[in-house]
Amino acid sequence: MCGITGAVGLKDISNQLFEGIRNLEYRGYDSCGVALMNGKRAIVVKKNVGYVDDVYKKENVLQHQGHTGIAHTRWATHGQVTKNNTHPFSSCDKKFAVVHNGIISNYQALRKQLKAEGHKFISDTDTEVVPHLLEKFYQETGSVEAAFVNTLRQLEGSYAIAFISIHQPDQIFCARRESPLLLGIDDEVKYVGSDFNAFIDHTKNAVIMDDDEYAIVSRDAYVVKSTVTQEVVAKPVTRIEWDSETTRKGGYPHYMLKEIYEQPQTINNALDVDEKKMDEFVDLLDKKATAQLVGVGTTFYVTMYANYIFSQISGKYIPAISSDEFVSLSPVDGDSFVLAISQSGETYDTISALKHAKAQGAATGAIVNVMGSTISRLVDKTILQGSGPEICVISTKAALAQMVILTHMALKLGLRRKRITQRQYKASLKSLHDLPEVINGILNERSGFIHRIAHQHRNVKNWLYLGRGIYYPIALESALKMKEVAYVHAEGMPCGFLKHGTLAMIDDDVYSIVFIPPKSDKAMYQATLASVAEIRARSGFVLGIHFDERGKDKELFSEELIIPQVPDIVAPFIHLVISQLLAYFTATSLKRNVDKPRSLAKSVTVG
Ligand code: AGP
Repeated sequence: MCGITGAVGLKDISNQLFEGIRNLEYRGYDSCGVALMNGKRAIVVKKNVGYVDDVYKKENVLQHQGHTGIAHTRWATHGQVTKNNTHPFSSCDKKFAVVHNGIISNYQALRKQLKAEGHKFISDTDTEVVPHLLEKFYQETGSVEAAFVNTLRQLEGSYAIAFISIHQPDQIFCARRESPLLLGIDDEVKYVGSDFNAFIDHTKNAVIMDDDEYAIVSRDAYVVKSTVTQEVVAKPVTRIEWDSETTRKGGYPHYMLKEIYEQPQTINNALDVDEKKMDEFVDLLDKKATAQLVGVGTTFYVTMYANYIFSQISGKYIPAISSDEFVSLSPVDGDSFVLAISQSGETYDTISALKHAKAQGAATGAIVNVMGSTISRLVDKTILQGSGPEICVISTKAALAQMVILTHMALKLGLRRKRITQRQYKASLKSLHDLPEVINGILNERSGFIHRIAHQHRNVKNWLYLGRGIYYPIALESALKMKEVAYVHAEGMPCGFLKHGTLAMIDDDVYSIVFIPPKSDKAMYQATLASVAEIRARSGFVLGIHFDERGKDKELFSEELIIPQVPDIVAPFIHLVISQLLAYFTATSLKRNVDKPRSLAKSVTVG
């Protein structure tokens, strides 16, 4: 889960390379490096540990110019975060410099063999076998392309690879298998990138590479070929709809806050997705004997939410399975439909689950945010959620939009299965259409209060997030937000679990947030308040988030956040937005690196 970029032009491309790698930093940022073709005689490699800006300064990277270059930002998988383990890697003769994303699973055997043949290794990485293989096969064939194809045929596992070589100084060679890779097509300069952000400032025309393809990219031309047959593959040029301005912060201090505030718009976009596509998904959910929802991390919690909403509205039980557990857990066959949820469309665990499902003959579908991503092309049917680029590593607007689409789908399925009437369908859909306005109100009127709570309680070491029914997955996702951005211990839990052991933890050091449902669900409302009382009886702190405009007895909550009443169907969305803000403000109070929190990458492309 790293970012690759490359550029080849007539003149110096070092600035384009710098912008590209900076735009890809959210994919991984423990170290980074650049390889530039310096004239036609030498490759300059500059790399170090740290963020892109820091490494560029430390290594004086912009002092070096070149017309062909590649760059890489890393999130360590094999080997420690050290300068030696940072990409690019060179061959012994320094005539090849390589960057890679993915995992070469047979690298140990290759490394042993190459060492026995006299190659010297400086790193612990899997990637370093690649420049040595290129060097070896170039010596044997005298052709860079043949050396590349021979190298690729040796590799097992996943890769997006790009390299430059002294032997063909005006070209970038690249290939992909199970890791994303695109070409950016401009008149004067051609680009290579892990995603659009690598070159979106310069061109909106992209060629999306598929598995087992390689490309040779020059300033004025490119060719894509099959790694298996070496035949030329005709590739369409895709026009990217996102503009570069959309990807920038637009005046917000962090992308996370910007993306939280964009949610009213992303809900509208989510409600605008192609009805025909939606109906095709509903058909499959209805007709297949079994259906499963898969996602991981935040998207697993989105699928858990969907599990509840499908049961409640359509009467169809559609289990949610964490992608990484899918193969162990879920029996699927030709009469199954597996619906995956993924912001990036590049998550390894979800891709593996889908591949397994396909191998068993199941029909597959996905809701994804990134056009042309691996998942969007792997499945039989895709819904593009249209949330625009989500740059912050923490997922907010994309997850909320996925919940909207799944709620809409559940309503359609409910209608088809006659579990709800036309009137109920229309009323619920109207509530979803009104949701952006309600969220705008929360963002504008409640963020001050949430900021105060977050700041006041920034040093709390343990939070319990509690909810019943559909508020349980909301509690899980809310706790994940707190953990990943503020690095504060937070556990999501169903309220019902409290008296089965967790109450023993309640003391001055454990604070609770309880998501109270609207009063209309009387049984659940009362049961949730009973859980609050259990905590308060042990003098535990409770922040209650509820819709009761009259306010509550001061004894019941330690703090209360009162939200204007909303229709039941949209209440979970409101709780989630409040939790996003709470996590964000806690993180800023603790001076965390909000958009690039530690130990997390935007696209987790390894297993
Ligand atoms: C979300 O804030 C996390 N970054 C993470 O859990 C993420 O949701 C997960 O890795 C799945 O990513 P995807 O939606 O791109 O598949």
